Amino acid sequence: MAELLKIVGPVVIGEKMAGAKMYDVVKVGKEKLIGEIIKLDGDKATIQVYEDTSGLTPGEKIENTNQALSVELGPGLLESIYDGIQRPLKSIHELTGDFIGRGVVANAIDRNKKWEFVPVKKKGDKVSDGDIIGTVQETEIIEHKIMVPHGMEGTIDEIKKGKFNVEETVCVIKEGSKKNNVQLMQKWEVRRPRPNNEKLAPNTPLVTGQRILDTFFPVSKGGAAAIPGPFGSGKTVTQQSLAKWSDSQIIVYIGCGERGNEMTEVLKEFPELIDPKTKKPMIQRTVLIANTSNMPVAAREASVYTGITIAEYYRDMGYDVSLMADSTSRWAEAMREISGRLEEMPGEEGYPPYLARRLAEFYERAGRIICKGSPERYGAISVIGAVSPPGGDISEPVSQNTLRVTKVFWALDAKLAQRRHFPAINWLKSYSLYTNSLDATYGNTVAADWAENRNKAMTLLQKESELQEIVQLVGPDALPEKEQAILDVTKMLREDFLQQNAYSDVDAYASLNKQYKMLKVILKFYDKTVDALDLGVQLKVVIGLKVRNNIARMKEIAEKEFNKKSAEIMSEIDAEFSKIVKSQKEVVA
Ligand SMILES: Nc1ncnc2c1ncn2[C@@H]1O[C@H](COP(=O)(O)OP(=O)(O)OP(=O)(O)O)[C@@H](O)[C@H]1O
Ligand SMILES: [Mg+2]
Repeated sequence: MAELLKIVGPVVIGEKMAGAKMYDVVKVGKEKLIGEIIKLDGDKATIQVYEDTSGLTPGEKIENTNQALSVELGPGLLESIYDGIQRPLKSIHELTGDFIGRGVVANAIDRNKKWEFVPVKKKGDKVSDGDIIGTVQETEIIEHKIMVPHGMEGTIDEIKKGKFNVEETVCVIKEGSKKNNVQLMQKWEVRRPRPNNEKLAPNTPLVTGQRILDTFFPVSKGGAAAIPGPFGSGKTVTQQSLAKWSDSQIIVYIGCGERGNEMTEVLKEFPELIDPKTKKPMIQRTVLIANTSNMPVAAREASVYTGITIAEYYRDMGYDVSLMADSTSRWAEAMREISGRLEEMPGEEGYPPYLARRLAEFYERAGRIICKGSPERYGAISVIGAVSPPGGDISEPVSQNTLRVTKVFWALDAKLAQRRHFPAINWLKSYSLYTNSLDATYGNTVAADWAENRNKAMTLLQKESELQEIVQLVGPDALPEKEQAILDVTKMLREDFLQQNAYSDVDAYASLNKQYKMLKVILKFYDKTVDALDLGVQLKVVIGLKVRNNIARMKEIAEKEFNKKSAEIMSEIDAEFSKIVKSQKEVVA
């Protein structure tokens, strides 16, 4: 029988492991700690253990389950809080108290709970892979679709209606002489992407309600964005705003290796959050995966796979899913630690040479797709990965390898955070490669001049940074009034448009319509300023205009009043400028 040869921190070596395969899940020692084979060498296997290995001794038995690391998929995932290998933290807590006991076995999905299954297919229907055979109301706001498991097809021999737990058979599918039972729950190996029919081009925006993101650096549904930032710059707040506000139905939130107290906040606060759109608890459409820095590192490695597999499962039902990973740097550090224990040849900064590949494989599981099976449906996973580069310097390997695969970069900036400019996303350093493909959609759905406005605003902001260099040398008064006018409008752009308070009831979310009109108002003010200066009006007169107060307060105008109020501001701009231009003409005459 296989037994333990050596213990190296979170990694152990087993011998007499003949027959074992890569990625088999094993149970190590008397306490049956869960581990996964990550290297094979003759009859020796290297195993990463998802639990604390202290106290293990050589000679203890190892049991091979001969199965790859898998997750349970079915109703009951939503509202759950799992550890990295999908053990429900609540039940574990009830079993073992504050510290997760070792070798604890708890089902990911409750076996006792009965769900009302409503079939949408009938006996005699032909079905295959991914076909929806019925539904379960999983939470008040999410309907769970029960799909034919991968690799199964045939004719429905029997389909039941009523209350079932996740292990009871609800449908029998006959394939030739073989009968397959379908339950509400299925399993899937986490390292294997779930299949789909076709990956689609990224032309649908993920609307986040965050002005700097939607207007300047949009991400598409099914896109991937990286949000690197130094300590305290707003990674977590941004991800939480997106979880709350983006137009995804399902949220998978992976808290990966962050400080215990930060995770406690998520665990405590998240279940209390109210979904602004449905007015129901946010958790009703969320799956939380928590792996704090005090939990074993190997489980951190597993948590991102557990999370993305659950995300794929809801995507396959036809939902738009957003997956937040906070922080992928901690995942990479787990890889580094395990690799070090294996004495692998280190790559850059000690990270394993396969870091880039692992990151790419993870982000490639994002996408908007045509789901397998009928009825025809689309699903998406958008991935927002936080990166915590040491010292905020993104030249390090995790940031660089992430930016190579994500098409959006939201550059958090410590200086902006210090100045309390939030979200502290630097508009000169950030980019989105989806901008062009989304412009057409924005142009058709919001306003034809969406892109034109955005480009104009960005050009002004770029000009501002050049002018600021001059100002630092010679002071603002040395600039011609036209250039001072640029500094004036960009201050408006920064304070009245880019800054957005995540904690304000009204300002936390801005619709695309509101974003467009806010920008339009500021740009109109600027155009009028330039015209007035041309006629000889002094900038200080423009700076004294009353309408500016209303522009500064636009953020706090509620969505339903915004069209009316913004039109009023537009008229005020016209009126106030006509007045100063008129008196200027009188002075000249
Ligand atoms: N959009 C925002 N609106 C208002 N305040 C914000 C916003 N973003 C960040 N903040 C402020 O910045 C603080 C730090 O943000 P956050 O915790 O998200 O940083 P972080 O990058 O996740 O930090 P860490 O590296 O410690 O994980 C918040 O507590 C909040 O006060
Ligand atoms: Mg954080």
